Amino acid sequence: MIKLKNKKVIITGATSMIGRSVIKSLRQRGSIMQPIFHEDLDLMNYEQTRDLFIDMKPDYCIHLAGYNGNIKFNSLYPAEIFHRTSTMGLNVLKACIDSRILKTVSVLSSCGYKAGDQPLKEEEFLNGEPDESTEAHAYGKRDLLIYSKLLHKQYGETFVCALFNTTYGPHDNFDLNKTKVVGSLIKKFVDAVDEGDKLVECWGSGKPKRELIFCDDVAEGIVQTLEKYDNTQLPLNLGFDQDVTIKELSEKIAELVGFSGDIKWDLSRSDGQMRKILDSSRMKKEGIILNQTSLNDGLQKTIEWYRLNKGIIK
Ligand SMILES: NC(=O)c1ccc[n+]([C@@H]2O[C@H](COP(=O)([O-])OP(=O)(O)OC[C@H]3O[C@@H](n4cnc5c(N)ncnc54)[C@H](OP(=O)(O)O)[C@@H]3O)[C@@H](O)[C@H]2O)c1
Repeated sequence: MIKLKNKKVIITGATSMIGRSVIKSLRQRGSIMQPIFHEDLDLMNYEQTRDLFIDMKPDYCIHLAGYNGNIKFNSLYPAEIFHRTSTMGLNVLKACIDSRILKTVSVLSSCGYKAGDQPLKEEEFLNGEPDESTEAHAYGKRDLLIYSKLLHKQYGETFVCALFNTTYGPHDNFDLNKTKVVGSLIKKFVDAVDEGDKLVECWGSGKPKRELIFCDDVAEGIVQTLEKYDNTQLPLNLGFDQDVTIKELSEKIAELVGFSGDIKWDLSRSDGQMRKILDSSRMKKEGIILNQTSLNDGLQKTIEWYRLNKGIIK
């Protein structure tokens, strides 16, 4: 097991919801943080990325930066999503080799799996066609796994990948073009209460099930992946084997924010995949133990953060 105390760790995507939680987890271990901020470095530029990494002399890297949004965003910008996800990933991983980083964890996404038998097992990640609604992001993330495997084959360094399902929490993205299911529902219900609206319209049928994971819990899993997981051939699923329907989630959020009006389901909107629960048995075998924030507590924290910040975020 890697001891992270006093070790230098690069974190790309440091301002993201998950990046902020990863920094908290690393801070608890006494690591020396080397966060990468988009305003200081464009990871689409390979030479600048390589030069900065070499200057920083890091021990490890957690690659979180990405470019994605919800189903609508995926339908509008598929080529851009694929190009940015792949290019940033290839640049960062190559810069890790150039700067002689000891181990790199890349974060993939459950949408990389084909829609198929559940629960989703790591051996299947590169097999079959992903769901059309998120294929751009899926193929971009698959590129990261493929390049990680090839780098290990050529150079022998440890490049591993972790993935998980829909994450939510404070600092989530609440822009309706980009936000995922939890951020979008919290925004709709809180805004309806604030504006006195008696009807909230939600996308799809409400029947799909989603496995939700709070940002601090997923961050702990990512950091433990760096400490404990060395399988360069298979990604690692992080999850709890539990999911909830979007209808149940909507009703819970409505109750927590004090919305007493009606919910209308807009059936003209795509449901996306009906279910995508991860098999987390490998994670348990590897001794990776996640704290499980209850859905109630996680939603309360996220709602509170949104209420405090809605006036100042996009
Ligand atoms: N949220 C989820 O439900 C979920 C689920 C599974 C996997 N993931 C993965 O987890 C990671 C973090 O997700 P997230 O939702 O917390 O955050 P996110 O919204 O995907 O944030 C992306 C981060 O990457 C940075 N970034 C984008 N383009 C960049 C560039 N060209 N150069 C440098 N930095 C760049 C962004 O900075 P700016 O904001 O300043 O542009 C931001 O900090 C992503 O890789 C995502 O695919 C997320």
